[in-house]
Amino acid sequence: MGLSDARGRPLRDLRISVTDRCNFRCVYCMPKEIFGRDYQFLDRSEILSFEEIERVARIGASLGVVKLRLTGGEPLLRRGIEDLVAALAAIRTPDGQPLDLALTTNGSALPVKAEALRAAGLRRVTVSLDSLDDERFRAVNDVRFPVQRVLEGIAAADAAGLAPVKINTVLKRGVNDDEILPLAERFRGTGHPLRFIEYMDVGASNGWRLDDVVPSAEVVRRIDEAHPLEPVSPAAAGETAKRWRYRDGAGEIGVISSVTGAFCGDCSRARISAEGQLFTCLFASSGFDLRAVLRSGASDDDVARALGGVWSRRADRYSELRGRAAPAAAPARIEMSYIGG
Ligand code: GTP
Ligand code: 5AD
Ligand code: SF4
Ligand code: SF4
Repeated sequence: MGLSDARGRPLRDLRISVTDRCNFRCVYCMPKEIFGRDYQFLDRSEILSFEEIERVARIGASLGVVKLRLTGGEPLLRRGIEDLVAALAAIRTPDGQPLDLALTTNGSALPVKAEALRAAGLRRVTVSLDSLDDERFRAVNDVRFPVQRVLEGIAAADAAGLAPVKINTVLKRGVNDDEILPLAERFRGTGHPLRFIEYMDVGASNGWRLDDVVPSAEVVRRIDEAHPLEPVSPAAAGETAKRWRYRDGAGEIGVISSVTGAFCGDCSRARISAEGQLFTCLFASSGFDLRAVLRSGASDDDVARALGGVWSRRADRYSELRGRAAPAAAPARIEMSYIGG
């Protein structure tokens, strides 16, 4: 019998943040007023070493983890990330399979890093791209980063064989909802699945309001009117995105509806922050100090017991309960940039 939580959900995915830093200051994620010059990012000694990350991932695999995703902040800012990728690519599941190893990035460093990442054993990347309009893109990332460079990053990842390169677009009403069709058409026929994400109330600094959310049903309707779609059955249980394909064979899109269609029922994701805190939900307000266990001289079995214990007590289903709880009284949630989405 594998490990399962208090709601019968197995542990299958581990999302590991390798740094809390980012070279962008996306207004909805790391607003400059908060993440300014004086912001105290984690010190090097506080973040997990590559050896510690590899160890957690290896122990995770022994408990049922089959999918690993590296996140940040911006994971490609972590120096030597290729070496970590190589170590993680060598991990095997109990039945001898490599893990599905992926990375979520803002794409800015892909033109220089894609080849080395592929050579180190990375399988695929997901690139965040919220607008095709250069002026708007520069305003959203708030560091004047040109969209062209991210498009080059996507092309570089593709050329390096990091396939499929998925594209993530967070939609915000009045900001980029007029780009649903242009984005869909830009990636139709390219082999890049484009996924539209409902803007979520993660963290405490993005000033989220329900009115900002563009419901996935609207996204699907607008694309379907121009380019007829049909649903695709999920590839695996617990997937975040509902998939749709163009009826004319031009590829797929996805919608991630954590606000209008919670997917907690089979959520099999654990998250580890750069400093080794273990979170059993994206919306958690506190984690379990796995780093303390790792640095206490514990054996692999001890670490497995700690991880397994936390998972077996897990009952989180924030998105299903959203709106029912009294948010004013709720403790501060972790920031998206800290846990990597
Ligand atoms: P694939 O396996 O490649 O499909 O990746 P993924 O969809 O698991 O990962 P990705 O990093 O692309 O996540 C896409 C978006 O879904 C991000 O904005 C995440 O914050 C959001 N997301 C991922 N996992 C969860 C989750 O467990 N709960 C909620 N509410 N949102 C999630
Ligand atoms: N809601 C939804 N997605 C978000 N992301 C960052 N902040 C939010 C939010 N509030 C996205 C990033 C990236 C992914 C990891 O999470 O754009 O694609
Ligand atoms: Fe933007 Fe991602 Fe950086 Fe957040 S972590 S500021 S969403 S690029
Ligand atoms: Fe999983 Fe929490 Fe997201 Fe629900 S809200 S899908 S439990 S991470």
